[in-house]
Order: sequence, then C-alpha cells, then structure tokens
Amino acid sequence: MAKYTDFGLANTHDMFADAYANGYAIGAFNFYNMETFSAILMAARDTHSPIIMAVSESALRYMGDEMLMSMVRGANIKPHEQIALHLDHGHSFESCAHAIDLGFSSVMIDASAMPFQENINLARRVVEYAHARNAAVEAELGTLAGFEDENTNSDAEIFTRPSDAVEFVSRTGTDSLAVAIGTSHGAYKRKNDNESLRFDILAELEVKLPGFPIVLHGASCIPRVLVDIINQNGGKMPGARGIPIDQLKRAAKMNVCKINVDSDNRMAFTAAIREMFSTQPDVFNPREYLDAAKTAVYDNTVGEIVNIMNSANRVVSG
Ligand code: G3H
Ligand code: 13P
Ligand code: ZN
Repeated sequence: MAKYTDFGLANTHDMFADAYANGYAIGAFNFYNMETFSAILMAARDTHSPIIMAVSESALRYMGDEMLMSMVRGANIKPHEQIALHLDHGHSFESCAHAIDLGFSSVMIDASAMPFQENINLARRVVEYAHARNAAVEAELGTLAGFEDENTNSDAEIFTRPSDAVEFVSRTGTDSLAVAIGTSHGAYKRKNDNESLRFDILAELEVKLPGFPIVLHGASCIPRVLVDIINQNGGKMPGARGIPIDQLKRAAKMNVCKINVDSDNRMAFTAAIREMFSTQPDVFNPREYLDAAKTAVYDNTVGEIVNIMNSANRVVSG
C-alpha cells in the first residue's frame, strides 16, 4: 500500500484554502495517457501553478494501476509544487479506497444519483477511510444535466439546494462539494449563449458555508477555434458549446476553488491530429501527430490556467 507523500503529491486542503482566500481556482485537468499527463504537468510547472491531475475510473482502467503510478513516480514531483492526484467520479467506496491505496491524494465519491441519505452514508464512509490516511474527499450534491456523457445518468438538471449542502457537509465531513449550478459534462452544454450559471446559489453557499471550497464539474469552455478546426478537418461536432469564460472567472473569484476540465483538452488533442492528417497526409509516424496533440493540450492548459483559473505564479518555489 502506497502513500501519496511517497510520490511528492499534495493534499488539496491547503491549495483550496489559498484559492478561496485569494479569489482564484485550481484547474482539475483529466489525463489518460503519457501525452496528456506530461502536457498538463508541464503546463502547471511552466506557469508555477498548483494543479489537480484528474483520473476517471475508466482512465485508470485504460492506463492500468502500475503504468499510471510509474508515470507519476517518474515525474519526480516535489511537495512544494502543489500537485494533487485525484480520482474523478469514483462511484463506489471500493474504487475510492483503491485509489487512495495506490497513492492518490484526493478522491471524489460521486453518489449524487443516490437518494440524499444514501449519498451521505457513502460519502461519510469514504471520508473516514480517506481522512485516516490524510487524503482529501470531494462529494457531490445535485444533478448536472448531461448530454453525450457517460458520467451523467440523467438529462434532468436538479440544482443544488444550499440548505441541503449545509446538512450534507456537516454530516459527511467532506472537504469539498461539487454542485449543480448549470454546468454539464461534454461538448454540448447549453441550449443558447444567454444561459447563465446560478450565481445566486454560489452566493448563498458563500454565506451558509463560509470558507468552504465548491467544485464545478462540466466546466469546459469549448473554444470556438477548436470546434472550427475539428469541423474543417473532417470532424463532426456541430453545435458544440461550452461555459463562457467570463462566467467561469466570476465563479473562480467566488467560492469555487476547483474547476474541472476534460472536454477542452480532448478537443485540443483531436483538433491537432485532424489538422495534421488533413494538411500532411504523408505523416504516418505516430510520434509526429502525438507530439502535435501533446503541444495542443499543453497550450490549452496553459491558456486556461492563466485566463480562467488565475492560478499562475501561486506556487512558491521550495
Ligand atoms: O467527467 C469526467 C470526465 O469527462 C471523464 O470521462 O470516464 O470518459 O474518462 P471518462
Ligand atoms: P467537461 O466535460 O466540461 O470538460 O467536464 C469535465 C469534468 O467535469 C470532469 O470531471
Ligand atoms: Zn465531472
């Protein structure tokens, strides 16, 4: 059984405290192979930003426990860099415990589809296991509307009720809470550009849970330039639309301390490969197009760290 400190990883507790106090957010970027791992890590290091490296259950299966943890060890991470390794959307106690035993510093227990009391019971169990090992827990309350995404079971959006959140936090001891305020997973988020996130819910949570870190899932902005590159090079993503950057920045200034991004980097990766295949049809060395994809993920992540999270230069050199 490994400890996350063996890998130089950080607990998210101090990161969130600083983010809350100074009105910025930590980006949680999903990765699933060597290219996305090194691109996101390099983006954080080059911008001196704290970061949460997120691994979904299916990404963990894809990489394999040993391969993943060997990559993490190989990155020679130092505690002062404030890099967390986080299980994204853990669906069971066993899944969360397994990640912690592998050396993850943070886990999400996603029992938001369960009835309130069952969600509390499961989150409480994960919190006890995690806190005994000094790892952090994120739980979720409310239902994100979901389109084209396997992580969301329902198209019906149920916004988080602040009074429920207060009870949930006190009864579970969770370290952070993912809420439903109008974001959704995937590349097809809103019906029109005028829809606003429910900032009134965030504001009420700030009052009812002062200092408590809130998490936004489904927060990709779906850059227009990437949609266009994909569609102009044989892809088919009509109507792809994300959360406007100004709304994400506003949330980051409030109590939102963690903003989850997966789809934007999936699109950056895909756009780079599609473009190279169209413009350089002679290329058949995977290192050439994977290098372009890695650079695209790096560039997108740097851009979002600087322009959305506002987390650059928050790491004090150790
Ligand atoms: O919300 C989570 C991510 O988009 C993970 O998706 O299970 O396909 O890796 P995945
Ligand atoms: P996006 O699909 O908006 O990138 O959301 C990612 C996410 O919430 C990962 O947990
Ligand atoms: Zn998510």
